Amino acid sequence: MLPFHRAVQDDFSAVNQLIIDKLHSDVGLVENIGHYLVEAGGKRLRPLLVLLTANALGYKGKDHLALAAIIEFIHTATLLHDDVVDMSNLRRGRPTANAQWGNAPSVLVGDFLYSRAFQMMVAIGNMDVMAILSDTTNIIAEGEVQQLVNAKDPNVTEANYFEVIDKKTAILFAAACEVAAAHCGASNAQRQALQAYGRHVGIAFQLVDDALDYTGDAATLGKNVGDDLAEGKPTLPLIYAMRTGTPAQAELIATAIRNGDASQLPAILEIVQATGGMTYTLNTAKAQVQSALSQLQQLPDNHYTQAMRELAEFSLARSF
Ligand code: IPE
Ligand code: IPE
Ligand code: MG
Repeated sequence: MLPFHRAVQDDFSAVNQLIIDKLHSDVGLVENIGHYLVEAGGKRLRPLLVLLTANALGYKGKDHLALAAIIEFIHTATLLHDDVVDMSNLRRGRPTANAQWGNAPSVLVGDFLYSRAFQMMVAIGNMDVMAILSDTTNIIAEGEVQQLVNAKDPNVTEANYFEVIDKKTAILFAAACEVAAAHCGASNAQRQALQAYGRHVGIAFQLVDDALDYTGDAATLGKNVGDDLAEGKPTLPLIYAMRTGTPAQAELIATAIRNGDASQLPAILEIVQATGGMTYTLNTAKAQVQSALSQLQQLPDNHYTQAMRELAEFSLARSF
């Protein structure tokens, strides 16, 4: 358990139980795949953001538990689909569902989780929450498609890259905070600050994820390193290295992206380090975390907002 989980330990246990309960299906394969993924754990950062936000605002009801489970179901559904699209075979330290059961069950159980999340949302009955989450899931899907279009294209701009990470990742972090704000009595200014906090944390989180895909350790990370290059993903470390490296260095990277070829990974990592591509990526993430932290000044200072600060810092310093 990460230190910032402690602030909401009881809520967190209740959400974990709710997640298990809501995986229920009469079709065994749905439950098997659902349990397989959920029991592997995951950091549960997004549901934690829901819980911390609700508590920071002094919310006294129980709906935040369902909101947290909903957000984790949406996240898990995107992972099931993403691993099929990315042809990934390791997730949360285990073979991915697609590696274990194949693509078709992964896609279908992903759909099951998405729709279960929407059933739970309807039960809460807050139109504001439904509006946020229907927009969010739509934008995530769009971001994943945009990323697919960008694959194997070394000319993707930094602006386009940022648009993709905002849509595929940051928007869900933002939504986790915003649904809790919308449902738990935040003022408009607080709601906006919380949404922006989540968004900045999410961008930082994905920037670090893209750095770790080069510098991380698979055993610690629980997923493979070097996958982005093998998929020809033009992520920020590469975009920066191509822009600032010599023409020969830029061409080596561009060719690897075009061919989705990870065979030159060590040479490319060296170029990324030498050109400052990794430093640039991490400094950009650091600036995002600073922006996230400044948003929290709009909120009461309590141990929940303190945990939100720690969560933001973790998204930067993490190795998994
Ligand atoms: C993985 O998210 C997908 C990205 C946005 C990079 P997490 O790293 O939060 O996944 P889990 O839930 O902890 O496995
Ligand atoms: C993360 O995609 C975003 C979503 C799952 C929507 P990535 O492909 O960058 O993340 P990992 O590396 O598979 O976790
Ligand atoms: Mg992926």
